[in-house]
Amino acid sequence: MKAGDVTLREARIDDAAFAADLETAVRPDDPQDPVIYEDYWRNPEANWKVERFIGEIDGMRVAYAHQRHHLWETPERYGGVTGDLVPSHRTATRIDALLAAMEDRSRADGTQTFTSWAWENDDLRVGALAKRGYREKRRQRFWELDLVANRSKLEAMAADSRKKMREQRITVLTIDRDDDPEKFAKLWRMSNEAEQDIPTTEPYVEGAFEDFMKWMRSPGLRGDRIWIARDGDAILGVSMLSYPPKRGVVQTDWTGVARAGRGKGIARALKCETVMQAIALGVDKVRTDNDSQNAPILHINDTMGYRRRKDGIQFMRAA
Ligand SMILES: CC(C)(COP(=O)(O)OP(=O)(O)OC[C@H]1O[C@@H](n2cnc3c(N)ncnc32)[C@H](O)[C@@H]1OP(=O)(O)O)[C@@H](O)C(=O)NCCC(=O)NCCS
Repeated sequence: MKAGDVTLREARIDDAAFAADLETAVRPDDPQDPVIYEDYWRNPEANWKVERFIGEIDGMRVAYAHQRHHLWETPERYGGVTGDLVPSHRTATRIDALLAAMEDRSRADGTQTFTSWAWENDDLRVGALAKRGYREKRRQRFWELDLVANRSKLEAMAADSRKKMREQRITVLTIDRDDDPEKFAKLWRMSNEAEQDIPTTEPYVEGAFEDFMKWMRSPGLRGDRIWIARDGDAILGVSMLSYPPKRGVVQTDWTGVARAGRGKGIARALKCETVMQAIALGVDKVRTDNDSQNAPILHINDTMGYRRRKDGIQFMRAA
């Protein structure tokens, strides 16, 4: 398949590291981990279709592109498309050609609305998307927390949160220390409930338990770093940081609280434990990102001392 002067071929698992390297080269301040990429590529989600391509010029790998969509169960059919090139070959014309190629494949599958992401200060990509008729739909706020500068404040917040949890008889622990045989099934159900309350344009679709377990086993996560909150039999909340094994910045993978547990300080308490643990492990900063309309988590992150980075923009266009 051709995309302008780039020849596209199907990506193989051993191209995952190239895709991570490419993204890191394009945006060195957001290093991507090749081990996490490879694990993700190796363990596809059950209810999704993903087509990945490597772009070559003169037999050399210079580009990566994909199209990805849910095996739709809702009347709305959103399809993600993307494509990018190594800095030496990165032009608006080639990004345009990669997007066009992915759109063709996505449209052939029945997509009604294309969606694609760009950083707000990536003028080349934002320009290419605008030229193809994409418009901004949502913003994702990216943040960074300096664990050195905020250490004493976070220690005080963690101590206060521990007291609040004790007073409410809510137990906070890491999942490896929980002996409930149903703990992952409970965590999956709780996570699905919480996920429905993240502001989004694309409709929520419940993830399969097997996909949840693939995620829990991903190389950035460890049982002794997944923090949960318990009230008796129920798991009420979770927060966890992903530690990239090879390259990148430690970042929140997920924070969620059951509807019945909201407003009790559980999310703040869990997030405090994750960052206290990161400090103890010698980590100097952590990152996170949230939908820009997600008021409670934005408030928690702001008051923990997170500072804003550049936004990510989700663009959309009718197919
Ligand atoms: C976001 C979420 C994790 C918060 O959980 P929680 O346990 O209720 O949060 P906490 O009780 O620790 O703290 C909520 C804080 O937000 C504040 N808050 C709640 N609603 C708010 C609103 N609409 N605007 C501003 N602040 C708000 C509360 O007053 C509280 O602040 P305080 O600690 O200064 O008193 C929970 O709502 C959730 O699971 N949402 C869906 C999943 C999600 O969005 N996850 C995070 C991003 S991926």
